[in-house]
Amino acid sequence: MARESESGLPIEPVYGPDALADWDPGERLGEPGGYPYTRGVYPTMYTGRPWTMRQYAGFGTAAESNARYRQLIEHGTTGLSVAFDLPTQMGHDSDAPLAHGEVGKVGVAVDSIEDMRLLFDGIPLDRVSTSMTINAPAALLLLLYQLVAEEQGVSADRLTGTIQNDVLKEYIARGTYIFPPAPSLRLTADIFRYCKAELPRWNTISISGYHMAEAGATPVQEIAFTLANAVAYVRTAIAAGMDVDAFAPRLSFFFVARTTLLEEIAKFRAARRIWAKVMREEFAAADPRSWMLRFHTQTAGVQLTAQQPEVNLVRVAVQALGAVLGGTQSLHTNAFDEAIALPTDTSARLALRTQQVLAHETDVTATVDPFAGSYAMESLTDEVEAAALALMRRIEDLGGAVAAIERGFQKGEIEESAYRTARQTEEGDRVVVGVNRFRLAQEEPYAPLRVDPAIEAAQVRRLARLRAERDAEAVDGALAAVRRAAAARPEDANVLYPMKEALAARATIGEVCGALREVWGTHVPVDAF
Ligand code: 3HC
Repeated sequence: MARESESGLPIEPVYGPDALADWDPGERLGEPGGYPYTRGVYPTMYTGRPWTMRQYAGFGTAAESNARYRQLIEHGTTGLSVAFDLPTQMGHDSDAPLAHGEVGKVGVAVDSIEDMRLLFDGIPLDRVSTSMTINAPAALLLLLYQLVAEEQGVSADRLTGTIQNDVLKEYIARGTYIFPPAPSLRLTADIFRYCKAELPRWNTISISGYHMAEAGATPVQEIAFTLANAVAYVRTAIAAGMDVDAFAPRLSFFFVARTTLLEEIAKFRAARRIWAKVMREEFAAADPRSWMLRFHTQTAGVQLTAQQPEVNLVRVAVQALGAVLGGTQSLHTNAFDEAIALPTDTSARLALRTQQVLAHETDVTATVDPFAGSYAMESLTDEVEAAALALMRRIEDLGGAVAAIERGFQKGEIEESAYRTARQTEEGDRVVVGVNRFRLAQEEPYAPLRVDPAIEAAQVRRLARLRAERDAEAVDGALAAVRRAAAARPEDANVLYPMKEALAARATIGEVCGALREVWGTHVPVDAF
């Protein structure tokens, strides 16, 4: 009797030769680092270089987060990943009324160039690659990063890193959007063009399935909705006059790794094959780098439990193993206490050590895509691929990802999946160790890390001083230039250039986003009431 996978696909108790009877490895697999990249995007994968160990971190003030980054670098992390607080993500300053109580809470507070300078104090930006989880105001944080690099004497063409810059999934599942879809996509295209001209090694977008998965999407929904969003971004950039091979090599992706690692490995392999075919067949991309789906993975936060939190160490290790066997380029492993609070120094180190054990004590880096040719894995990969393609066709029939979002399609599908999962857990059909089975009569207390609320007042004072000391006239003039560019047609003005001038004059994130709000307005979701 077949068991149902997370996506509702059959997982047979036994697979044999007949499962791959008419299966053509040439068409289905290709070589490692070769089209359609089922086996991975590089010929040597981890045998050449392990994946990037890129731990998402950031809280409180820039100085506190800088200390955590230095600590992670000292413990051997090989990539940085910045978490911003909600006011920054929503384009509000720390002293905005809406920011009260959120400053420095789920990430670091960055209001201006002064905070960005502190955030990377003592960190050579020509020697690290930095991911920034920032979406609606992504252009501003990228420009601040470039300005600080210029101050360090690092030229823009040597900067490597990624901005998430994926506003479509924010409308679907995460919520840190500001502007309506049309100006948001204009800004995305401006960023693609700016990076092509100024920051050639920068990954311009991290098209994310992670948050949709965390909201309840199944593995098939996760890759179908993500790749449909990616198609929308490619169409936007082409419509803005860019050649597909001018920007596609610097697109990147971001997925979750669930504990159900077999389906997850199949998911990653299927996603690479789908994307390679979409880029070569639908968009006629000629550069092989345009066909490669390079991605970051984060282990599933939603599967962490507050009960018996140390059990999460086991879950994260299994999830991380799935991401690695699935060929991820970069990986974040959650800390075992994150269902309770921000990671402590100890739990953050343990999370990184989990990756180091996988990379240096196991043999998963010895060979590329070890599941290739497996009766079970190749069958599962084909099943996931077929189901994801069918769902992508449904989105096409609705007019594409943006039209489907505006009808609330993806959100509705995810909510249904989330409800099904919750019912299964409630009824005990889905075992969650420590939660609905193998419980403790009395949970043991756990002392988590807390962000000191006093940091909000300190950050507000720093902002007041910045506003008092800067050249107010220069800032006003620069903001007016941002408004003019935002009001201009995309073919006449790229908003990032006047934005950079404004930030250099110490305009704040909130002020620049405010100037854009005045011109573009803000998004009101379809289901707002
Ligand atoms: N053979 C040849 N070259 C290789 C290689 C190999 N085996 N392995 C690596 N390389 C090369 C690559 O070509 C690359 O060179 P390039 O920069 O000149 O292209 C370089 O080595 C670095 O390799 P990768 O690009 O594969 O690895 P990176 O780590 O630099 O980049 C990425 C990975 C996925 C492309 C990038 O976009 C990235 O780092 N993304 C991270 C996104 C992220 O961290 N997001 C966090 C989000 S947190 C969040 O949203 C959740 C929160 O809300 C809860």
